[in-house]
Amino acid sequence: MNRLADKVCLITGAARGQGAGEARLFANEGAVVWLADVLDGAGEAVAAEIGGTYRHLDVREDAQWQALVDEIVARDGRIDVLVNNAGIFRTGRHFEITPADFQAVMDINCLGVFLGMRAVSPHMRAAGKGSIVNISSLAGLRSAAGAFAYGTSKWAVRGMTKAAAVENGRRGVRVNSIHPGLIDTDMLHELPGADDEARLVRRVPLGRTAHTDEVAALALYLASDESSYSTGSEFIVDGGLNAL
Ligand SMILES: NC(=O)c1ccc[n+]([C@@H]2O[C@H](COP(=O)([O-])OP(=O)(O)OC[C@H]3O[C@@H](n4cnc5c(N)ncnc54)[C@H](O)[C@@H]3O)[C@@H](O)[C@H]2O)c1
Repeated sequence: MNRLADKVCLITGAARGQGAGEARLFANEGAVVWLADVLDGAGEAVAAEIGGTYRHLDVREDAQWQALVDEIVARDGRIDVLVNNAGIFRTGRHFEITPADFQAVMDINCLGVFLGMRAVSPHMRAAGKGSIVNISSLAGLRSAAGAFAYGTSKWAVRGMTKAAAVENGRRGVRVNSIHPGLIDTDMLHELPGADDEARLVRRVPLGRTAHTDEVAALALYLASDESSYSTGSEFIVDGGLNAL
């Protein structure tokens, strides 16, 4: 399986959950995988398992982005794929969430995605190719009532994706967003009532949550040249929730 043969890929939030799933699948498909996170022990373990390289990267820190992208380009000569996957979830309606919690969500989910695109785009534009995959959410397509800051941040990811896709299109750099529904990771279990599995999935047409592999398969498609004519678009993996 070589759908990403020799592509140099950076995945944020890759220590666990969806990011780790993407790192494993990309490595299986022949990619050179760089993993970044703030959970260093877990990130190092995934990297060792798949033969990738782990680096500490707090996505809110521009200097860390610049240093890591410089290191990747110095060692591997280019960067072909960025998956902006790192994110956090917070509950709270707009009249409940504190400004500090709102800012914390925006800093990681929104500023972090911008800084990542800003760091890699000059290299991809110079190379005339590249794929940026931004992990938004179903909450970036619909109301995220009860998780006001999270929904706001994920709509912003969707908007940034479209603007960056237009700005990068003529240089051969594609930018797309993925909108997952209920994916079985640590984050899902932070949802209020998530411990009641039957209640959690009762509105999902496919009747279940997703395994991280099911999102990774979509990220693989968008990272690979198979999606060569797709940019600025939303790709949904939600068991049918958006069809309700
Ligand atoms: N799980 C779901 O149901 C679901 C649904 C829709 C979208 N998403 C999105 O998918 C992405 C992955 O989430 P997940 O489900 O794997 O959850 P997760 O909590 O298991 O993983 C998130 C990862 O991001 C990392 N991270 C957090 N802050 C960071 C920072 N400042 N810098 C670098 N890394 C940081 C965490 O350490 C963690 O490894 C997130 O963007 C999330 O919003 C998740």
